[in-house]
Amino acid sequence: MKITVVGAGAVGASCAEYIAIKDFASEVVLLDIKEGYAEGKAMDLMQTASLNGFDTKITGITNDYSKTANSDICVITSGIPRKPGMTREELIGINAGIVKAVSSSLIEHSPNTIIIVVSNPMDTMAYLVHKSTNLPKNRIIGMGGALDSARFKYRLAEALEGPISDVDGMVIGGHSDTGMIPLTRLATRAGVPVSEFLSAERLTQVLEDTKVGGATLTKLLGTSAWYAPGAAVSGLVQAIACDQKKVFPCSVLLEGEYGLNDISIGVPVIIGKNGIESIVEINLNDAEKASMKESAEGVGKVNALLEL
Ligand code: NAI
Repeated sequence: MKITVVGAGAVGASCAEYIAIKDFASEVVLLDIKEGYAEGKAMDLMQTASLNGFDTKITGITNDYSKTANSDICVITSGIPRKPGMTREELIGINAGIVKAVSSSLIEHSPNTIIIVVSNPMDTMAYLVHKSTNLPKNRIIGMGGALDSARFKYRLAEALEGPISDVDGMVIGGHSDTGMIPLTRLATRAGVPVSEFLSAERLTQVLEDTKVGGATLTKLLGTSAWYAPGAAVSGLVQAIACDQKKVFPCSVLLEGEYGLNDISIGVPVIIGKNGIESIVEINLNDAEKASMKESAEGVGKVNALLEL
C-alpha cells in the first residue's frame, strides 16, 4: 500500500507520522513545494522508526510527482492554513489554485488513486476536485467531519466528566464554524442518550464549543491545529487500506441524498477499499434538516466563488 501526502507542513507531517506509527502501509511519500522540506520531515520521521517500532518507509520529495506514481491513496494538505481571526473560507483564493494543480499532477501519475482532500475551505476544495478531474465520486473524500466529531466527543466527555471511550457522537454538515451540525440528539454515553446526563443548556454549550473547536485552537496556537487533523486523516487512510468498512462523516458529492444535489458536504459514509462504499442516510428531524439546508447554502456560497 503506497500513500502520498502532499504538503509536508503541520497537518501533512502529523498525518504521515500517525500512518507510520499504525504500521499498516508499506510506503508513505511526503511531497512539498519547498525545496528540501519534505526530505527533512521524512528523514526526521524515519529516525523515529526504531524508537516507535514501525517498518513503514517514509520518503520526502520536492515537487517530483513521478515519485508518487501508483499511489493507492493521495492526501492533499497543501495550501495555507488560517491565522487567528480568519475563517476557513478566506483561504479559497490561494488554496483553490494549489488544490487544482496538485490533484491534476497526482492523477496523472496515479490514475486509480483515492484522493482525500484536507486543505480548506475543505468542502469547496473537495467539490473543486470533483469538478476539475474525472475521478468517480467514491474516490474523492473530504476530511472534516472525522475531526469535528473527535472534537465533539472531547467536549462531550469534558461535560460528562467521564472517559471519551464511553462517548459516541457525530458532526455532519459543512466544515466551517457556522456550518457544522453536532448531532446532540444522537450522541450517547455507553449507549444512553447524553440528554439523560446533561441539561439542554449544557448540551448547547457543548455544541457551541465544538463548532468553534478549530478557531479556539487557532487562537491559542497562532495557526491551525495538526495533531487531531493528522490523526483524523490517518483514520480514513487506514479504513481504506484495511478495508474496514468504518463509518465516518466525510464531505462527499451528493446527488439527491439528504435532499441535496451537486454539492460536497459532510454526511456519514462507509469507508472501505473503494473509498466511499456507500452514503448513510440518517433520519434527521425537522430542526436538523433545516440546519443541513442552511449549512449547504453556506457551502454553496463559497463554491460560487470558484472559477470553474
Ligand atoms: P502548513 O503551512 O503547515 O503546511 C502546508 C504545506 O503545503 C507547506 O509546507 C507548503 O510548503 C505546502 N505547499 C504549498 N503549496 C504547495 C504546492 N503547490 N505543492 C506542494 N506543497 C505545497 O499548513 P497546515 O497547518 O499543514 O494546513 C494545511 C491545510 O490544511 C490548510 O489549508 C488548513 O486550513 C487545512 N486544514 C484542514 C483541516 C480539516 O479538517 N480539513 C484541519 C486542519 C487544517
